[in-house]
Amino acid sequence: RFKAVIFDLDGVITDTAHYHYLAWKRLADSVEAPFDEAFNEQLKGVDRMGSLELILARAPRTYTPEDKRALADKKNAHYQELIATMTPDDLLPGALRALEDVRAAGLKIGLASVSRNAFTVLDRLGIRDRFDDVVDAATVVNGKPDPEIFLTAAAHLGVDPQDCLGVEDAVAGVASIKDAGMFAVGVGSPEVLQRADRVIPSMAAFRLEDY
Ligand code: G6P
Ligand code: MG
Repeated sequence: RFKAVIFDLDGVITDTAHYHYLAWKRLADSVEAPFDEAFNEQLKGVDRMGSLELILARAPRTYTPEDKRALADKKNAHYQELIATMTPDDLLPGALRALEDVRAAGLKIGLASVSRNAFTVLDRLGIRDRFDDVVDAATVVNGKPDPEIFLTAAAHLGVDPQDCLGVEDAVAGVASIKDAGMFAVGVGSPEVLQRADRVIPSMAAFRLEDY
C-alpha cells in the first residue's frame, strides 16, 4: 500500500547513535552538565547546535556564540574519529535486508538525516547508491521534530506523504514523520516512541508486508 519508505540513518541503518552518545557524553562531562541515557533520548534526531543548546542549558555557566561554535566543533571532531573506522560490517542487523525488500517490492527509497556527516557514513557503509534520494541538514531549514525533512524527501521522490512510511529511532524523528502525515515505524521501545504507529525492537524485525 505504500509507494516509498524513508529511513532515518543514525540508529536505524547503523549504530552511529551510540557514537553520537559517546561524543556528547564527553562534551557534557567537560562542561559539567548532567548526562545520562534518558536525557540522551531527547538529543536523538536533533541537529548539532540544537543538541548542544539542550546540553548547555543544564551546565552551571553560560557560553558565548564563539564558545558554542568551538564546543560543537570539538564534539564533531570526536564523532568523526569514532566513525572513521566504520565499514559495511557496521550496518545494523536487518538494515540491508530491509533496503533490499523495499527495493524488491518496487517502492522508492529515501533517507532523511539531519546529520552533516550523513554522506560520510553512507559511503563508509557502502550504501549511498541504494537510496533514490538523500535529504540531509544542508537541504532543510528546520530539523526534526519539524516535518520539513520528511516532506522534502517525499517531494524529491515524487510521492504523496500519505503514501510514505517513515522509519525512525528518535522521539523527534517520529514526531517529524507523523506531522508530515506519514505512517511511522519506530525502532526501539514503545514507552519512548509513543507516537509511532508501530514499534519494532530492531531493524531485524522490519517486515514491509506487516504495515
Ligand atoms: C542525527 C543524530 C543526532 C545528531 C544529528 C546531527 O540526527 O540522530 O544525534 O546530533 O544527526 O549530526 P551531525 O553529524 O551533523 O553532528
Ligand atoms: Mg536516528
